[in-house]
Amino acid sequence: MNDAERQVQRLERILEVSRELTSTVALGPLLRKIVVTAAELTGSEDASILLWDARTGELHFRAASGDQAMRLANIPVPVDGSIAGEVLTTGEPLIVSDTRQDPRHYGGVGQKIGRDIHSLVAVPMQIKERRIGVLEAINKIEGPEFTAEDVEILTTLGVQAAVAIENARLVSALQEAYERLGELDQLKSDFIAIASHELRTPLGLILGYATLLRDQMGDTAAAQLDVVLRAAMRLKNLIETMLNLRYLETGELELACAQFDLRDEIADACNAYRSLAEASGLTLGMQLPDEPLAIVADRDKLHVVLDNLLSNAVRFTPSGGRIWVAAREQRGQIEVEVADSGVGIPQEALERIFERFEQVEDHMTRRHGGMGLGLSIVKGLVELHGGRVWAESDVGQGSRFVVMLPKQQSSSEGG
Ligand SMILES: Nc1ncnc2c1ncn2[C@@H]1O[C@H](COP(=O)(O)OP(=O)(O)OP(=O)(O)O)[C@@H](O)[C@H]1O
Ligand SMILES: [Mg+2]
Repeated sequence: MNDAERQVQRLERILEVSRELTSTVALGPLLRKIVVTAAELTGSEDASILLWDARTGELHFRAASGDQAMRLANIPVPVDGSIAGEVLTTGEPLIVSDTRQDPRHYGGVGQKIGRDIHSLVAVPMQIKERRIGVLEAINKIEGPEFTAEDVEILTTLGVQAAVAIENARLVSALQEAYERLGELDQLKSDFIAIASHELRTPLGLILGYATLLRDQMGDTAAAQLDVVLRAAMRLKNLIETMLNLRYLETGELELACAQFDLRDEIADACNAYRSLAEASGLTLGMQLPDEPLAIVADRDKLHVVLDNLLSNAVRFTPSGGRIWVAAREQRGQIEVEVADSGVGIPQEALERIFERFEQVEDHMTRRHGGMGLGLSIVKGLVELHGGRVWAESDVGQGSRFVVMLPKQQSSSEGG
């Protein structure tokens, strides 16, 4: 075999390692393959990977080509007073042709495994700027001593080993983060469930008694009691929002479907907002077909959808503006639109606003209240019905929210 052929063969072996790097092989077997290849291509007895351990400040064998990998794993190598340590510190490869002549050589490993180490080549392994360890080969068999070519081979394989190690580290960090996130999510979900449950009872009492008092006291304290009632209603809505969100997330929400005329529900929702709209200097218009818009759906949940869209339209439209609601049948589906002539939504936020806690205005500087949950609930409820919702807008001109609902629930009996 001539030089060129040998070179090609080496490259092929290195490529083979690269290919495994991008497949899903576990780290252990991959590193083992790298050291075996390293020993073979450098014509040496053995090769090994030593990683620096930040905790102990020592180098530890992570993989070895021979059959002593297990024993090596328990033999730490000091950074001060070893060739591997020197390579780690300086970042420069080293060839030692005769370890007995080199005071930097650490005899501890050879002694402990009963092995004579006479020559050695070591290259640093690094990830970006950080040196993580050393790839070394010992005891040249083919040829008198290690060469620059051996250094080159080890360097290439060392890069691959470093990538594999970094990948594995990232994957496990990611996994950990996911698990932690899952735990947090569960905690938050439990917290919401308990808190909203516990809040409901006292709030029910406040609402009940405030209503009673308001009726009994006549005009004396009506204004004050109205404030109490409004505040309590706001709390009630918040609690319902949180519960809806949680049930949507856990998939516990079920549809209670019945057939009804969607025009009635839209009219109800608009009427509920008319006085608020007018108080805010807005006109609220409605455009509904003459024929019934028969739909099989969960009326309460569609109420929540309309309520959220209307509340947004009122909040994000300055005085003097216009809000209109329209609905029509379209190819077996019902399209409902809630539009306004308000502040509008920037193009890049049109999808994001349907995510939880996403608001166009910054939380810290916002003038409008709200938690940024309404639209995520709208989306959840519409999708639960097998429908779709999206937003269209021109900043400064207004926004248009469109809800597309199937007329029938595919799995429902049509209650
Ligand atoms: N009609 C609209 N016009 C302009 N911007 C809107 C409109 N509707 C929603 N947005 C933007 O989308 C964001 C998210 O709306 P969403 O209803 O999810 O939350 P919110 O109204 O801020 O709070 P919450 O509904 O929880 O009380 C709003 O904060 C606002 O920036
Ligand atoms: Mg809202």
